[in-house]
Amino acid sequence: MHDCTTACLGTTVIGSLQFGYNTGVINAPEEKLRTFFTNVSQSRYGEPFQSQTVTLVWSFAVAIFSVGGMIGSFSVGAVVNKFGRRKSMLMNNILALLGGGMMGLATLSQSFEMVIIGRFIIGVFCGLCTGLTPMYVGEISPTAVRGAFGTLHQLGVVIGILVAQIFGLEFLLGSDTLWPLLLALTILPAVLQTIMLPFCPESPRYLFIVLKQEEEARKALVRLRGTEDVDDDIQEMKEEGMKMAMEKKVTILELFRSPNYRQPIIIAIILQLSQQLSGINAVFYYSTGIFSNAGVSEPIYATIGAGVVNTVFTVVSLFLVERAGRRTLHLIGLAGMAICALIMTISLSLKTTPSLSYLAIVAVFGFVASFEMGPGPIPWFIVAELFSQGPRPAAMAVSGFSNWTANFLVGLGFPRLEEICGPYVFIIFMVLLILFFIFTYLRVPETKGRTFDDIAQGFAARVEKPSHSPVPEAVVVENKEPAPMSPTEK
Ligand code: GLC
Repeated sequence: MHDCTTACLGTTVIGSLQFGYNTGVINAPEEKLRTFFTNVSQSRYGEPFQSQTVTLVWSFAVAIFSVGGMIGSFSVGAVVNKFGRRKSMLMNNILALLGGGMMGLATLSQSFEMVIIGRFIIGVFCGLCTGLTPMYVGEISPTAVRGAFGTLHQLGVVIGILVAQIFGLEFLLGSDTLWPLLLALTILPAVLQTIMLPFCPESPRYLFIVLKQEEEARKALVRLRGTEDVDDDIQEMKEEGMKMAMEKKVTILELFRSPNYRQPIIIAIILQLSQQLSGINAVFYYSTGIFSNAGVSEPIYATIGAGVVNTVFTVVSLFLVERAGRRTLHLIGLAGMAICALIMTISLSLKTTPSLSYLAIVAVFGFVASFEMGPGPIPWFIVAELFSQGPRPAAMAVSGFSNWTANFLVGLGFPRLEEICGPYVFIIFMVLLILFFIFTYLRVPETKGRTFDDIAQGFAARVEKPSHSPVPEAVVVENKEPAPMSPTEK
């Protein structure tokens, strides 16, 4: 891989790291924040909040992050169309400075409102990150390694979660006095990315197809690929650009109206839902509680163990995605998660037997590992693959919004569901996983090794000539690209 591409990928996935960090960071300091809310109330109103009020303020601080994420992800289309990919990422960092700064100063100013507003701003920031990063990465990647590069977004996310889990330990930054620093730490990567982004070229596809600046696009490609010979890339963009000429910017409404986009947008939304409604964040938000329910004696370390498994299996997926393909890995992941959800249910319902607490750990680890094989990384980057340049921003906005909304619902609803269903709560996710498996099997095409244009043509062909075979026609379209290279072969 050429150095410039490596540097640009590294710079961009700082955004993914930020999303992961801010997802994981709020878990560990829960008790400290609750105490802070009570103390503020005591000094401000002369009496502490009642315990329900503390829980309310706490839940609000947690949930508002996803609300911000919904707004941020939905704005992606409008922002990139106006400012381009690189400038949007650059400007987004202002939100990280603002949100991180507010949370960091909360104790000094004795204001729990600053934690809540800060979490909201950080949510908007992360919502934008989840659209901007996969879009830029997808657009600068050579076709043969687009899936492996796309998986880097998820790798950034899982490393961010792990770092947050570790920094959140009581003897590091999760202490009574240092938790504001833990929440404000998001400022550092934002500063780093702000310094590095100006050295990365704008997305050549954006320059060429949207702005029609062929020379600028060529220069960007020469830098990214490290060779003057970029004619193939230019030719491919020319073909895509010509077909796109009639439909430059596609609005969100048109995505659902046009028969050419309807199928891919439904697939994109359902893949995002399959990621969130698999129940993964029930584990990441509440694993410590799940482990202690199952009788594990040091639940916090089992949680960190889950973070490590999460990271290792994302790397496994990175190496497999260009060999096995997206569709196969997604199917394997969903099936593995469904089986582990069943084992989890058995171990939670029979927790009276001590050895079953180990089974619970194995089941949760298996659940997380299966998730990272496919449902973790693939939905994030496949949206950029399912659409060509014109409809891509709108599609990223709609699918990102679906992801964040489902994330919000699981985060908010899981504790209540657990109260109602007890140890059987994961059966709900198992059923959903089976339904998503069937949908993926019937409707999701393989995109490995195919150009954006080829994938779009595959959908157009399905509209003209509806297929009755269970394997979508787009799956069997011949590869126009040379055999895809795995990242190891590069
Ligand atoms: C994905 C999900 C995110 C989840 C993470 C776990 O990135 O979008 O919600 O927390 O995976 O690794």
